Amino acid sequence: MITNWLPPDLLAEKVVFVTGGGSGINLGIAKSFARVGANVAICGRTPERLESAKLEIEENGAQVVTAVADVRDFDALSVAFEKTRKELGDIDCLVCGAAGNFLSPAEALSPNGFKSVVDIDLVGSFNACRGSFEQLKKQAGNIIFISAGQSFTPYIGQAHAGAAKAGVDNLMKNLALEWGHYGIRSNSIAPGPIEGTEGMKRLAPGAVGERLKATIPLGRFGQPEEIGYAAVFLASPLAAYITGTRLVVDGGQNLGGSAIFSQAILRSSSGSDSR
Ligand code: HXC
Repeated sequence: MITNWLPPDLLAEKVVFVTGGGSGINLGIAKSFARVGANVAICGRTPERLESAKLEIEENGAQVVTAVADVRDFDALSVAFEKTRKELGDIDCLVCGAAGNFLSPAEALSPNGFKSVVDIDLVGSFNACRGSFEQLKKQAGNIIFISAGQSFTPYIGQAHAGAAKAGVDNLMKNLALEWGHYGIRSNSIAPGPIEGTEGMKRLAPGAVGERLKATIPLGRFGQPEEIGYAAVFLASPLAAYITGTRLVVDGGQNLGGSAIFSQAILRSSSGSDSR
Protein backbone atom coordinates (compact mmCIF):
# COMPACT_ATOMS: atom_id res chain seq x y z
CA MET A 1 0.00 0.00 0.00
CA ILE A 2 1.19 3.48 -0.82
CA THR A 3 -0.63 5.37 1.91
CA ASN A 4 2.56 7.03 3.18
CA TRP A 5 3.02 8.72 -0.22
CA LEU A 6 -0.37 10.40 -0.13
CA PRO A 7 -0.48 14.18 0.43
CA PRO A 8 -2.67 14.27 3.57
CA ASP A 9 -4.11 17.72 2.79
CA LEU A 10 -4.65 17.31 -0.97
CA LEU A 11 -8.43 17.51 -0.56
CA ALA A 12 -8.64 19.04 2.92
CA GLU A 13 -12.13 20.28 3.79
CA LYS A 14 -13.58 18.94 0.54
CA VAL A 15 -16.85 17.02 0.71
CA VAL A 16 -17.14 13.76 -1.22
CA PHE A 17 -20.40 11.82 -1.59
CA VAL A 18 -20.07 8.14 -2.54
CA THR A 19 -23.19 6.20 -3.56
CA GLY A 20 -22.92 2.57 -2.54
CA GLY A 21 -20.09 3.60 -0.19
CA GLY A 22 -20.86 0.94 2.41
CA SER A 23 -18.75 -1.83 0.89
CA GLY A 24 -16.31 -3.04 -1.74
CA ILE A 25 -14.71 -0.72 -4.24
CA ASN A 26 -16.85 2.20 -3.10
CA LEU A 27 -15.74 1.83 0.50
CA GLY A 28 -12.13 1.70 -0.70
CA ILE A 29 -12.77 4.94 -2.58
CA ALA A 30 -14.30 6.56 0.50
CA LYS A 31 -11.28 5.58 2.63
CA SER A 32 -8.84 6.89 0.03
CA PHE A 33 -10.57 10.28 0.05
CA ALA A 34 -10.45 10.31 3.85
CA ARG A 35 -6.68 9.77 3.73
CA VAL A 36 -6.21 12.97 1.70
CA GLY A 37 -8.23 15.13 4.07
CA ALA A 38 -11.75 15.01 2.61
CA ASN A 39 -14.92 14.52 4.61
CA VAL A 40 -17.17 11.82 3.26
CA ALA A 41 -20.87 11.01 2.94
CA ILE A 42 -21.99 7.52 1.93
CA CYS A 43 -25.39 6.13 1.02
CA GLY A 44 -26.66 2.61 0.54
CA ARG A 45 -29.56 0.31 1.20
CA THR A 46 -28.33 -1.46 4.36
CA PRO A 47 -28.06 0.58 7.59
CA GLU A 48 -25.74 -1.92 9.38
CA ARG A 49 -23.31 -1.91 6.47
CA LEU A 50 -23.26 1.90 6.42
CA GLU A 51 -22.55 2.07 10.15
CA SER A 52 -19.61 -0.33 9.99
CA ALA A 53 -18.23 1.48 6.91
CA LYS A 54 -18.55 4.78 8.79
CA LEU A 55 -16.18 3.51 11.50
CA GLU A 56 -13.63 2.35 8.90
CA ILE A 57 -13.71 5.70 7.10
CA GLU A 58 -13.47 7.66 10.35
CA GLU A 59 -10.33 5.67 11.27
CA ASN A 60 -8.79 7.27 8.19
CA GLY A 61 -9.43 10.76 9.53
CA ALA A 62 -12.71 11.91 7.95
CA GLN A 63 -15.95 13.22 9.34
CA VAL A 64 -18.57 10.86 7.95
CA VAL A 65 -22.28 11.20 7.19
CA THR A 66 -24.39 8.16 6.37
CA ALA A 67 -27.78 8.07 4.70
CA VAL A 68 -29.98 5.12 3.89
CA ALA A 69 -30.98 5.62 0.26
CA ASP A 70 -31.46 3.40 -2.77
CA VAL A 71 -30.15 5.26 -5.83
CA ARG A 72 -33.33 4.25 -7.69
CA ASP A 73 -35.25 6.51 -5.30
CA PHE A 74 -34.64 10.14 -6.30
CA ASP A 75 -36.45 11.54 -3.25
CA ALA A 76 -34.40 9.46 -0.81
CA LEU A 77 -31.21 10.61 -2.54
CA SER A 78 -32.34 14.24 -2.31
CA VAL A 79 -32.79 13.85 1.44
CA ALA A 80 -29.29 12.33 1.66
CA PHE A 81 -27.75 15.25 -0.26
CA GLU A 82 -29.49 17.79 1.95
CA LYS A 83 -28.34 15.97 5.11
CA THR A 84 -24.79 16.05 3.74
CA ARG A 85 -25.00 19.80 3.00
CA LYS A 86 -26.22 20.53 6.52
CA GLU A 87 -23.61 18.40 8.29
CA LEU A 88 -20.54 18.71 6.06
CA GLY A 89 -21.22 21.48 3.52
CA ASP A 90 -21.86 21.50 -0.23
CA ILE A 91 -20.64 18.50 -2.18
CA ASP A 92 -17.38 18.97 -4.13
CA CYS A 93 -17.16 15.48 -5.57
CA LEU A 94 -19.87 12.94 -6.34
CA VAL A 95 -18.84 9.32 -6.87
CA CYS A 96 -21.57 7.30 -8.61
CA GLY A 97 -20.55 3.87 -7.42
CA ALA A 98 -23.76 2.01 -6.52
CA ALA A 99 -24.17 -0.99 -8.81
CA GLY A 100 -25.89 -4.33 -9.05
CA ASN A 101 -24.81 -7.33 -11.05
CA PHE A 102 -25.05 -11.08 -11.51
CA LEU A 103 -24.13 -13.53 -14.21
CA SER A 104 -26.96 -14.56 -16.50
CA PRO A 105 -27.11 -15.58 -20.14
CA ALA A 106 -29.29 -13.10 -22.03
CA GLU A 107 -31.66 -15.88 -23.11
CA ALA A 108 -32.42 -16.67 -19.44
CA LEU A 109 -32.54 -13.09 -18.18
CA SER A 110 -35.97 -11.75 -17.27
CA PRO A 111 -36.95 -8.25 -18.42
CA ASN A 112 -37.10 -7.25 -14.78
CA GLY A 113 -33.60 -8.60 -14.14
CA PHE A 114 -32.26 -6.49 -17.04
CA LYS A 115 -34.23 -3.47 -15.85
CA SER A 116 -33.05 -3.81 -12.23
CA VAL A 117 -29.39 -3.55 -13.19
CA VAL A 118 -29.99 -0.67 -15.62
CA ASP A 119 -32.07 1.09 -12.96
CA ILE A 120 -29.37 0.80 -10.30
CA ASP A 121 -26.29 1.47 -12.45
CA LEU A 122 -27.53 3.95 -15.04
CA VAL A 123 -30.74 5.55 -13.79
CA GLY A 124 -29.27 5.60 -10.27
CA SER A 125 -26.19 7.46 -11.54
CA PHE A 126 -28.35 10.03 -13.30
CA ASN A 127 -30.50 10.44 -10.17
CA ALA A 128 -27.37 11.14 -8.11
CA CYS A 129 -26.00 13.67 -10.60
CA ARG A 130 -29.32 15.44 -11.00
CA GLY A 131 -30.02 15.46 -7.26
CA SER A 132 -26.62 16.93 -6.32
CA PHE A 133 -26.35 19.28 -9.31
CA GLU A 134 -27.01 22.53 -7.45
CA GLN A 135 -24.35 21.71 -4.86
CA LEU A 136 -21.84 20.63 -7.49
CA LYS A 137 -22.52 23.79 -9.48
CA LYS A 138 -21.93 25.97 -6.42
CA GLN A 139 -18.61 24.26 -5.78
CA ALA A 140 -17.51 23.88 -9.43
CA GLY A 141 -17.22 20.26 -8.36
CA ASN A 142 -16.69 17.04 -10.19
CA ILE A 143 -18.33 13.68 -10.83
CA ILE A 144 -16.67 10.28 -10.99
CA PHE A 145 -18.70 7.40 -12.41
CA ILE A 146 -17.69 3.83 -11.68
CA SER A 147 -17.86 2.10 -15.03
CA ALA A 148 -16.49 -1.34 -15.97
CA GLY A 149 -14.68 -3.16 -18.76
CA GLN A 150 -18.13 -4.46 -19.77
CA SER A 151 -18.83 -0.93 -21.04
CA PHE A 152 -16.49 -1.37 -24.01
CA THR A 153 -15.95 -5.14 -24.24
CA PRO A 154 -18.86 -7.61 -24.28
CA TYR A 155 -18.65 -10.42 -21.69
CA ILE A 156 -20.71 -13.61 -21.65
CA GLY A 157 -23.54 -13.35 -19.12
CA GLN A 158 -23.24 -9.59 -18.86
CA ALA A 159 -25.72 -8.15 -21.41
CA HIS A 160 -27.50 -6.19 -18.66
CA ALA A 161 -24.36 -4.85 -16.96
CA GLY A 162 -22.65 -4.07 -20.28
CA ALA A 163 -25.65 -2.07 -21.50
CA ALA A 164 -25.88 -0.24 -18.18
CA LYS A 165 -22.19 0.63 -17.98
CA ALA A 166 -22.01 1.72 -21.64
CA GLY A 167 -24.88 4.07 -20.77
CA VAL A 168 -22.98 5.28 -17.73
CA ASP A 169 -19.94 6.17 -19.84
CA ASN A 170 -22.08 8.01 -22.36
CA LEU A 171 -23.86 9.91 -19.57
CA MET A 172 -20.41 10.82 -18.23
CA LYS A 173 -19.49 12.38 -21.58
CA ASN A 174 -22.82 14.19 -21.92
CA LEU A 175 -22.46 15.81 -18.52
CA ALA A 176 -18.86 16.79 -19.30
CA LEU A 177 -20.23 18.54 -22.38
CA GLU A 178 -23.25 20.17 -20.76
CA TRP A 179 -21.89 21.06 -17.33
CA GLY A 180 -18.31 22.03 -18.23
CA HIS A 181 -19.25 25.69 -18.37
CA TYR A 182 -20.19 25.52 -14.69
CA GLY A 183 -16.68 24.26 -13.98
CA ILE A 184 -18.06 20.78 -13.30
CA ARG A 185 -15.81 17.98 -14.53
CA SER A 186 -17.17 14.52 -15.30
CA ASN A 187 -15.04 11.39 -15.69
CA SER A 188 -15.31 7.65 -15.17
CA ILE A 189 -13.11 4.88 -13.86
CA ALA A 190 -13.36 1.36 -15.23
CA PRO A 191 -12.02 -0.96 -12.53
CA GLY A 192 -10.75 -4.41 -13.40
CA PRO A 193 -11.14 -7.40 -11.07
CA ILE A 194 -10.82 -6.12 -7.50
CA GLU A 195 -10.02 -8.59 -4.73
CA GLY A 196 -12.58 -9.44 -2.05
CA THR A 197 -15.50 -7.57 -3.59
CA GLU A 198 -19.10 -8.70 -4.01
CA GLY A 199 -18.62 -8.28 -7.76
CA MET A 200 -15.76 -10.80 -7.81
CA LYS A 201 -17.79 -13.27 -5.75
CA ARG A 202 -20.65 -13.00 -8.20
CA LEU A 203 -18.75 -12.80 -11.49
CA ALA A 204 -15.57 -14.78 -10.98
CA PRO A 205 -15.92 -17.31 -8.17
CA GLY A 206 -13.25 -19.95 -7.51
CA ALA A 207 -11.66 -21.45 -10.60
CA VAL A 208 -13.05 -18.72 -12.87
CA GLY A 209 -11.18 -16.14 -10.78
CA GLU A 210 -7.95 -18.12 -10.94
CA ARG A 211 -8.21 -18.41 -14.74
CA LEU A 212 -8.95 -14.71 -14.96
CA LYS A 213 -5.98 -13.79 -12.79
CA ALA A 214 -3.65 -15.69 -15.11
CA THR A 215 -4.69 -13.37 -17.97
CA ILE A 216 -3.94 -10.11 -16.17
CA PRO A 217 -0.69 -8.56 -17.45
CA LEU A 218 0.22 -7.27 -13.96
CA GLY A 219 -0.41 -10.77 -12.60
CA ARG A 220 -2.74 -9.95 -9.72
CA PHE A 221 -6.15 -8.62 -8.77
CA GLY A 222 -6.49 -4.99 -7.71
CA GLN A 223 -7.30 -3.63 -4.26
CA PRO A 224 -10.27 -1.32 -3.55
CA GLU A 225 -7.93 1.47 -2.46
CA GLU A 226 -6.17 1.35 -5.85
CA ILE A 227 -9.43 2.45 -7.47
CA GLY A 228 -9.63 5.01 -4.67
CA TYR A 229 -6.27 6.52 -5.59
CA ALA A 230 -7.40 6.92 -9.21
CA ALA A 231 -10.55 8.65 -7.93
CA VAL A 232 -8.51 10.96 -5.69
CA PHE A 233 -6.39 11.92 -8.69
CA LEU A 234 -9.43 12.66 -10.87
CA ALA A 235 -11.08 14.71 -8.10
CA SER A 236 -7.95 16.71 -7.33
CA PRO A 237 -6.47 19.85 -8.90
CA LEU A 238 -3.91 17.53 -10.56
CA ALA A 239 -6.72 16.63 -12.98
CA ALA A 240 -8.12 20.17 -13.38
CA TYR A 241 -8.11 19.96 -17.19
CA ILE A 242 -9.42 16.40 -17.46
CA THR A 243 -13.08 15.91 -18.27
CA GLY A 244 -15.10 13.52 -20.43
CA THR A 245 -12.56 10.74 -19.98
CA ARG A 246 -12.68 7.09 -18.90
CA LEU A 247 -9.68 5.87 -16.91
CA VAL A 248 -9.21 2.10 -17.05
CA VAL A 249 -7.64 0.75 -13.82
CA ASP A 250 -7.41 -2.99 -14.39
CA GLY A 251 -3.79 -4.14 -14.41
CA GLY A 252 -4.16 -4.46 -18.20
CA GLN A 253 -6.90 -7.12 -17.91
CA ASN A 254 -9.03 -5.82 -20.77
CA LEU A 255 -6.13 -5.78 -23.23
CA GLY A 256 -6.68 -9.51 -23.76
CA GLY A 257 -10.39 -9.15 -24.50
CA SER A 258 -13.08 -11.17 -22.77
CA ALA A 259 -12.70 -14.57 -24.48
CA ILE A 260 -10.75 -16.32 -21.73
CA PHE A 261 -13.11 -15.07 -19.01
CA SER A 262 -16.13 -16.05 -21.11
CA GLN A 263 -14.73 -19.55 -21.70
CA ALA A 264 -14.08 -19.95 -17.98
CA ILE A 265 -17.68 -18.99 -17.25
CA LEU A 266 -19.02 -21.41 -19.85
CA ARG A 267 -16.83 -24.20 -18.49
CA SER A 268 -17.92 -23.60 -14.94
CA SER A 269 -21.62 -23.36 -15.81
CA SER A 270 -21.49 -26.57 -17.87
CA GLY A 271 -19.46 -28.30 -15.15
CA SER A 272 -16.94 -29.30 -17.80
CA ASP A 273 -13.49 -28.21 -18.82
CA SER A 274 -13.87 -29.44 -22.37
CA ARG A 275 -15.07 -26.20 -24.00
C1 HXC B 1 -30.88 -13.98 -12.97
C2 HXC B 1 -31.62 -12.49 -11.36
C3 HXC B 1 -30.54 -12.84 -10.51
C4 HXC B 1 -29.62 -13.83 -10.98
C5 HXC B 1 -31.75 -11.35 -9.52
N1 HXC B 1 -32.33 -11.57 -10.69
N2 HXC B 1 -30.65 -12.10 -9.37
N3 HXC B 1 -31.80 -13.05 -12.56
N4 HXC B 1 -29.83 -14.36 -12.22
N5 HXC B 1 -28.58 -14.23 -10.25
C6 HXC B 1 -33.56 -10.97 -11.17
C7 HXC B 1 -34.72 -11.36 -10.28
O1 HXC B 1 -35.22 -12.66 -10.60
C8 HXC B 1 -35.73 -10.27 -10.58
O2 HXC B 1 -36.39 -10.50 -11.79
C9 HXC B 1 -34.86 -9.06 -10.81
O3 HXC B 1 -33.52 -9.54 -11.09
C10 HXC B 1 -34.80 -8.16 -9.60
O4 HXC B 1 -34.34 -8.91 -8.51
P1 HXC B 1 -34.59 -8.45 -7.01
O5 HXC B 1 -33.74 -9.28 -6.12
O6 HXC B 1 -36.03 -8.35 -6.74
O7 HXC B 1 -34.10 -6.95 -7.08
P2 HXC B 1 -33.26 -6.10 -6.11
O8 HXC B 1 -33.52 -6.48 -4.71
O9 HXC B 1 -33.47 -4.73 -6.49
O10 HXC B 1 -31.78 -6.57 -6.44
C11 HXC B 1 -31.03 -6.00 -7.45
C12 HXC B 1 -30.00 -7.01 -7.98
C13 HXC B 1 -29.27 -7.68 -6.81
C14 HXC B 1 -29.03 -6.33 -8.90
C15 HXC B 1 -30.77 -8.06 -8.75
O11 HXC B 1 -28.38 -8.67 -7.30
C16 HXC B 1 -28.57 -6.71 -5.95
O12 HXC B 1 -29.19 -6.06 -5.13
N6 HXC B 1 -27.26 -6.52 -6.07
C17 HXC B 1 -26.53 -5.51 -5.26
C18 HXC B 1 -25.20 -5.96 -4.93
C19 HXC B 1 -24.39 -6.32 -6.14
O13 HXC B 1 -24.91 -6.81 -7.12
N7 HXC B 1 -23.12 -6.14 -6.05
C20 HXC B 1 -22.25 -6.53 -7.11
C21 HXC B 1 -21.96 -5.42 -7.91
S1 HXC B 1 -20.68 -5.91 -8.95
P3 HXC B 1 -37.89 -11.16 -11.84
O14 HXC B 1 -38.19 -11.27 -13.29
O15 HXC B 1 -37.77 -12.51 -11.17
O16 HXC B 1 -38.79 -10.23 -11.11
C22 HXC B 1 -20.57 -4.78 -10.05
C23 HXC B 1 -19.28 -4.75 -10.72
C24 HXC B 1 -19.45 -4.15 -12.03
O17 HXC B 1 -21.44 -4.07 -10.25
C25 HXC B 1 -19.01 -5.08 -13.04
C26 HXC B 1 -19.61 -4.99 -14.35
C27 HXC B 1 -20.52 -4.05 -14.78
